[in-house]
Amino acid sequence: MKHPFKGRTLTVISDLNREERLYLFQKTKQLKKTLKENNHQEIDKFRINDNDFGIYEVFLEDSTRTKESFRNAISFLNAKLSELNPSSSSINKSESYADTFNNLTGYNNKIFIVRSKLEGVCRWLEESTTSYSKRNNMLAPSFINAGDGAHEHPTQELLDEFTFLEDNDWSLDYLHIALIGDLFHGRTAHSKANGLTLFKKVKIDIIAPETLMMPKIHLKNMESNGFEVSIFENIDSYLQNNDIASKWYFTRPQLERMGDNALKNQDILRNAITIKNSHLSKLPKDTLFYHPLPRHKKHPVIPTFLDDSSFNAWERQSANGMLIRIVLLAMTAGKVGDDYKGRLGQKNKEKQPFIKKIIVLTNKKPKKYSEGIIPINDGIVIDHIYQGESCSLIRQHLTTVVSVLNIEDGKGGEWITNTQNNKKQYKGIIFRPNHKGFNQKQLKKLAGVAPGCTLNIIKKGIITEKYKLKLPPRIYNMQNLSCQNKNCISHPTHFEPITSMFHRSGSDGFTCHYCESFHTFKEIWK
Ligand code: NCD
Repeated sequence: MKHPFKGRTLTVISDLNREERLYLFQKTKQLKKTLKENNHQEIDKFRINDNDFGIYEVFLEDSTRTKESFRNAISFLNAKLSELNPSSSSINKSESYADTFNNLTGYNNKIFIVRSKLEGVCRWLEESTTSYSKRNNMLAPSFINAGDGAHEHPTQELLDEFTFLEDNDWSLDYLHIALIGDLFHGRTAHSKANGLTLFKKVKIDIIAPETLMMPKIHLKNMESNGFEVSIFENIDSYLQNNDIASKWYFTRPQLERMGDNALKNQDILRNAITIKNSHLSKLPKDTLFYHPLPRHKKHPVIPTFLDDSSFNAWERQSANGMLIRIVLLAMTAGKVGDDYKGRLGQKNKEKQPFIKKIIVLTNKKPKKYSEGIIPINDGIVIDHIYQGESCSLIRQHLTTVVSVLNIEDGKGGEWITNTQNNKKQYKGIIFRPNHKGFNQKQLKKLAGVAPGCTLNIIKKGIITEKYKLKLPPRIYNMQNLSCQNKNCISHPTHFEPITSMFHRSGSDGFTCHYCESFHTFKEIWK
């Protein structure tokens, strides 16, 4: 039987479902205990003990805890550790990530731990090295995301969840937590939007000034996961509230990712998210502070006078990091996990039909669409485009639809008119006399660029076919698609050989397959 974890990739926290994470935490708890008891026989059960088992660390951004805890974990596991030095690698000679990692895969490496400024890198590398491995008759490697831009930091999320559980007496019933600091850039906080589904009931108090506020997509995600979310501008205003969390998760202002404006106001920003002596008496008695670290030595958001206090949970949190990473690597290597009985991976995304063919009754009096002033005899009419928007937005979008469908040539035109039932509402219409209609791929494109539209095929003055189109669940393998996030690995400026892909999100948008940023259906087209 296939090992449940061997060869798997962790690019976002939800790549491991709740049951799988709980299994990992049980094993980590066990490891922690056996290490404490110095029980060598039990400790050895976690070790890979294979000097040919290649694990590669590729840190294209600075790191201490993540990199070094992985390094210590690999040495505990008795596996082969290699490191790519980013300042002397051919990435600096403009080699693509795909080529770089394909070559390292060829040197018999099984797991890559990757940190980068670009988002969605591990998802992409998993795909590109899988193709490489097939071509070269090898097993495809696993990837572990050690932090990708402002996107996610799943292994930090694992150690955070483990530490919260330790401090919750292992109860999964309820978590009330305050997230404080740079929630705009903080990927460790972003991973919490899906990660904290570990707990049955979650209350999150967000404390951040506007410039550091958590991006809407994560807030939306938290709400759709059923979390109760409240927002506060600074610690002082939060402390006036009467339900204060006893777990506080701090993140530092990530100045290296900020623009000039935020840098000018850094003192004000820091002040809003830094704990002070005067705050302490207002906190619940058993309050604990967490921090993914690093702490700024001059401006720590948790001042150093608290190191030796009962608030300090961040040191244990950091030490747990190595244990979590030992177990994760042992699972990915197939050393731990044989006794896992639960559900595997994520549920398949729902597949709803998005192209609906409407039966046209030929004995019904046909609706006549006008070719300028003469009704169309043969051709197509695309109706109800971007219905309900303003005329200028509809007009702009009609240009996009025409270019995406490549129907610039020939007779015909675009116009804007009222919808039938509401004189104040507008819609776009495109007509093309003599056009023969679309194939399945073009229909999918039309559904992606003009969801809600209807396509009418007219022959000899009669509508012979009619399609109603909704957003497709997935859209890919089309020339004109592109993610708009400049930090996404699939953005055209990074020249990786990627074909963009998007997944439907909600009723009017898509998320990028790689960086998961949200786009309205208008924004994904070049
Ligand atoms: C964090 C990171 O790199 O995202 N640190 C970490 O991995 N422990 C947070 C940070 O850099 O502030």
